[in-house]
Amino acid sequence: MNAVFPGSFDPVTSGHMDVLTRASHMFEQVTVTVMHNARKQGHHLFSLDERLDILREATAALPNVRVDSFGGLLVDYVAQQERSVIVRGLRAVSDYEYELQIAHLNRQIGEVETVFIMAATQWSFVSSSMVKEIASYGGQIHEMVPPASEAALRRKFAEMYATKAGEAG
Ligand code: PNS
Repeated sequence: MNAVFPGSFDPVTSGHMDVLTRASHMFEQVTVTVMHNARKQGHHLFSLDERLDILREATAALPNVRVDSFGGLLVDYVAQQERSVIVRGLRAVSDYEYELQIAHLNRQIGEVETVFIMAATQWSFVSSSMVKEIASYGGQIHEMVPPASEAALRRKFAEMYATKAGEAG
């Protein structure tokens, strides 16, 4: 059996890496898929290509993990893959309601199963959005993200501040 691990990954966190690594031990192949759709463009810090590059670097040591992207319905993507289920991580009860809804809808519209992996408790409070906020103020994010994400965040905010300083003259 194979798995698709979908998400925005803006950028990939240590919580994602925990779920992904554990999924890679359970499934023959895991495809991490950056789901991008036109409506959400502009809401991300990193471009699709940047998110894919970060993921490729972060997953390089996982032999049965590949990285891909898709811009449509998740169930259509999963249907193109061989013998695949969706894997999603759950951090806390607060994730449950949203995940329950999309898992049921994906089964209804695409007959696709979703398998949940509970993220390790040390990542319960880590999310891409919080990591971005902390990094934007120069805070410590070292343990919360893989090195590829940390380097990319530092670069991105350094560029943004340099541009702002340039504009301010
Ligand atoms: O990392 P995220 O943002 O929590 O991931 C959410 C994601 C990308 C998995 C979800 O929004 C999704 O599957 N989007 C693709 C469009 C789709 O299939 N929507 C219908 C779900 S019922």
